[in-house]
Amino acid sequence: MLKGKVALVTGASRGIGAAIALELAARGADIAAVCRSGREAAEGVCAQCRERYGVRAEVFLCDVADGEAVKETVARVRAAFGTVHILVNNAGITRDGLIARMKEADFTDVLNTNLLGAFHMIRHCSGLFLRNREGCIINIASAAGLMGNAGQSNYAASKAGLIGLTKSVARELAPRGIRCNAVAPGFIRTDMTRDQENAPLLAGIPLGSMGEPEDVARAAAYLAEADYVTGAVLRVDGGLAM
Ligand code: NAI
Repeated sequence: MLKGKVALVTGASRGIGAAIALELAARGADIAAVCRSGREAAEGVCAQCRERYGVRAEVFLCDVADGEAVKETVARVRAAFGTVHILVNNAGITRDGLIARMKEADFTDVLNTNLLGAFHMIRHCSGLFLRNREGCIINIASAAGLMGNAGQSNYAASKAGLIGLTKSVARELAPRGIRCNAVAPGFIRTDMTRDQENAPLLAGIPLGSMGEPEDVARAAAYLAEADYVTGAVLRVDGGLAM
């Protein structure tokens, strides 16, 4: 149970982030739902958290790629909720393209949101974790970060980087009682993968189907409660990256 814990979830307005917010709320955590836009959708997620599970839940608009904005947002979450116990770095984007034609901005935009965004959040939450002598960081990586993916060199680089970040932070903060793990989803049915479901794609997945956001949310909730697990990369991919 996560009763009495405060979870900050980025990209919580929809898809996997929304499912994670609801799953952590179902286990009793209060929810700080961070997103760059889509306030209305995020308000809907928070209303469901409150009404279904009786927890506190509030929306905080923030672009995670902006370090100053992250600093301010963590301060606002602290003012509203007192602290943060669980940080879920889920916000992510894609700008797919073949490497020879990829614009530099497509590479840096993806790195800035997916990797630098997680760095900013970890950095600004770690003071709270150190003070609490506990903390749990969950980074949403990707099977692409383990296997690579043609047309996604920017995205795969960001997710492989996130896995290196996860393991380094896990080693660095373990002596202070702070855990850091990653989830590596495969193909999950969300806005990000809309229209991607096709026979060749499904043929590459041993379990033969795409996953649902709730599959990833249950893995994140497991890691939130698994006191003896740190530095792990938990694949939720139907066997894709085996
Ligand atoms: P989505 O596109 O449905 O939702 C992304 C969320 O991130 C939205 O709430 C959006 O507002 C937020 N966001 C984007 N940029 C942001 C920024 N700069 N600052 C703050 N919030 C920002 O995506 P989906 O599918 O739910 O993906 C969530 C995470 O899971 C991403 O990190 C993605 O890379 C990862 N993932 C998704 C897979 C899939 O098949 N859908 C597979 C593997 C990983």
